[in-house]
This record gives sequence, structure tokens and C-alpha cells, in this order.
Amino acid sequence: MQEVIDKLSNEIQKGLSKQMHSRSTVKCWPTYVQDLPTQNERGKYLALDLGGTNFRVLLVSINGPDDVDIQTQAFQIAQPLMACPASALFDFIAECLDNFVKEKQLSDKELSLGFTFSFPMRQLSLAEANLVTWTKGFSCDEVVGKNVTKLLQESISRRGTLKVNIVAIINDTTGALISCAYNHKNCRIGLIVGTGCNACYVEKTCNVEMFEDYQTSQKPNMIINCEWGAFGDNGVLDNILTSFDRMVDKQTPNQGKQIFEKCVSGMYLGELVRIIIVKLMEEGKLFNGIESSIMHENWKFETKFISAVESDPPGIFEKCNEVLNECCLNDASDEDKACLRYICETISTRSAKLVACGLVTLINKMEICDLSVGIDGSLYRRHPKYHDLLMDNVKKYVGTDVCVQFFTSDDGSGRGAALVAALYKDNKSKKCK
Ligand code: GLC
Repeated sequence: MQEVIDKLSNEIQKGLSKQMHSRSTVKCWPTYVQDLPTQNERGKYLALDLGGTNFRVLLVSINGPDDVDIQTQAFQIAQPLMACPASALFDFIAECLDNFVKEKQLSDKELSLGFTFSFPMRQLSLAEANLVTWTKGFSCDEVVGKNVTKLLQESISRRGTLKVNIVAIINDTTGALISCAYNHKNCRIGLIVGTGCNACYVEKTCNVEMFEDYQTSQKPNMIINCEWGAFGDNGVLDNILTSFDRMVDKQTPNQGKQIFEKCVSGMYLGELVRIIIVKLMEEGKLFNGIESSIMHENWKFETKFISAVESDPPGIFEKCNEVLNECCLNDASDEDKACLRYICETISTRSAKLVACGLVTLINKMEICDLSVGIDGSLYRRHPKYHDLLMDNVKKYVGTDVCVQFFTSDDGSGRGAALVAALYKDNKSKKCK
């Protein structure tokens, strides 16, 4: 773990530096978010959330610290939409937004919108960003390298009826940090452990060399979107990768990319477990010759099964049986079940240890002794032991004088995005040179 921490720390240093940036795998993108919420934010804001298995439209009314009302509508992102042309994706988003605004009878109101777009992006200003590369199974044509805000604004304009102004485009990690900071003043890190995995943290502006005003900015801090999912893309993690990791990687549309993410996040952990089980079945070491066509289908063993299997108390296999039923492995022995549980534990514990390495790296970098981390994501929320595993492993590697608390971040991609929109609603977006 110390070796992983040192390597990540090195990549982050390079990511921040103008001279070394192009050679870093962990890009540490400036977010242009330089303020944390004060609880004085008020108003009604729209938010969009694209970046996982769901797409959401939200209306967030901030009336005070104890009174934030969120109305939301979620749409499943079907597989074809993840690979469709840019215009189809953004027209779909604009249509959902339009319908939502009409339903809420807000069509005649001018509304500010915060767009949570959870992919690596090079920010041009707070409100505009170019997509650097797709991750998490998305591969829509003609978006990489393009200005995502413009694409969305064009689709919105084509509908002709909407009066919304995109004031901020943020990453989900930023949303998690901001949402947590609303209630916990000392929040300095936002972490997502869901379909993908990534973190952001508060850096001194003078260290953010990729931000054109880093030496002259009046504001002392800026949130940095690490994009640590790509850690290892240059081979520095090869010594910890297993043959199973390499097999999962081969099945993805972005082979050789997002290596760290593929070891830790929800999109991939179920598949890792499935590949290990299939190998043991083929060697005759597991499930004693029972055949299951489901287990032979790629991606069919979902990460939520890992959480279910691990939530049984010792010696009980209730949830485990349900999972085995879904996988058509009904007559498994208790020994097989214990074995399945062990495999799940191994994969989720490795994930938590690696993510802990990431957190330790950021905590050490900031050199602060008292901080909170705002965390969101399906794996973190659903897995019965992830929180404890993460906490225990972080504590092992940070100094004894460091007090770190973990909070589940309340709807960062909705509430967080609306808070950013509230913080910057009067800003005229400032273009990068
Ligand atoms: C992927 C994306 C990143 C996002 C993370 C969590 O790593 O590239 O932007 O924050 O998933 O959703």
C-alpha cells in the first residue's frame, strides 16, 4: 500500500505541473470551483446528472440549511444511448429537461442550471468543458474533444422553449465535496465509489499550474478533479494486477485505460468475481459440476451480488442463496458458498485498500490534521463493510495526529450541483486563454 501511495503521489504532482502534465496519468484537472458553500445560498436551481447507469433531472430549492427540497426524475441509460451519436445523446437530455420543466410549470421562468457530467473533462471556464475521453462504458461518437456545454446548449436551443442558463459543469466528485461541505465546514475531499471511482480535493491555487490565473488569483483554493481512475495506465500498477484484471480489461471498450478504476469500482468488481468463479468451476474446484449458463455470460454477475453475499452473518447463507438462485447455481454446498464469500471479500477488500491509498495520498498532500471526506456511489452505499474497510485502512497510513471523518454525501450530483450554481449564479463565465 505504501508503494501505491508513493506512486499516486508522484502522478498527482506531475498532473498539477504545467511542464509534466502531459506525462501524467492522473490529470488533476482544475475545476474553477474556488469557493465552498456558506449556508447563505438560496434559490431554485435545475440540475442534470449524467455519468452512471441513470440520467437524472432535478429541481433543487435551497431555502436554508435545514430546508433543501429536491424533486427529481430518473431515466435509465439504455445500452444504445451509451454508444449513440452526440446529437442523439444531447437531444435526449434536452427532451427530458424540457418535459420536466413543463411538468413543474416552470417553462416561463429563467433558471440557472448546474450540470454534473461525470467524465474526464478539460474545463475552459466554470461553465464550459471539453470531454477528454469517455469512461464507464460510454462511447458516443463525436463528443471526445468537444465542448460539452455547447452541445447541450445547442440541443436545448433547438427545442426552442427552454429558458435555462448552464452556469456550471462539474464532476460528481466535486458535487460530493460541495454537498458535504454544506454541512461539514472541514470537508476537503469528495470521493465516488460507484460505477466508476474518482476523487477531488481542495488544493492551494498557487499549486494549480494548469489554471491560467494560478499566480494571480485572489482566491486561495481550488477544487481539483484528480481523475485517478486512469492511475496505472502507464504500467506503474502492473506489479499488482492479476490475470483476472487483465481479462476484465480486455472485455471493455477502453482497453488499457482506467486501470485503477477497473480494480476498484462497481462496474468491474462483479465481473472480476465471475471470472474467478468460472476458472474454479472449469478446474472442477467449485460447484461440483453444476452447470450455469448465466455464469458463463460476461458481466452477468453484478457487483450488487457481492454486497448481498457479504451481508450474511458468519455461517448463514441466506442472501448468498438468493444470489446463487439468480445465477442458477441452486445445489451449491456450504463449502462452495463459503468459498464464494471468500472470493467476494477478497475483491471488495482489495478495492477498499486501493481507494484508501488514494485518500491517504490526498490527505498527506494537503497537510491538514482535521478534515472530512464526502463520499457517494452505489458500491460505498450498498456494500455492508466498505465504509469500515476504508476507514480502517486509511487510519493505518495517515499520521496519528490526523483526524479524518467520513460522511455519506447527500445527493452531490443534484444538491451539490445546485449549490455550485447558487455560488456562481452571477458569474459571467471567463474563458481560458
Ligand atoms: C469515472 C469518471 C470520473 C467520475 C468517476 C465516478 O472515473 O471518469 O469523472 O468522477 O467515474 O463517477
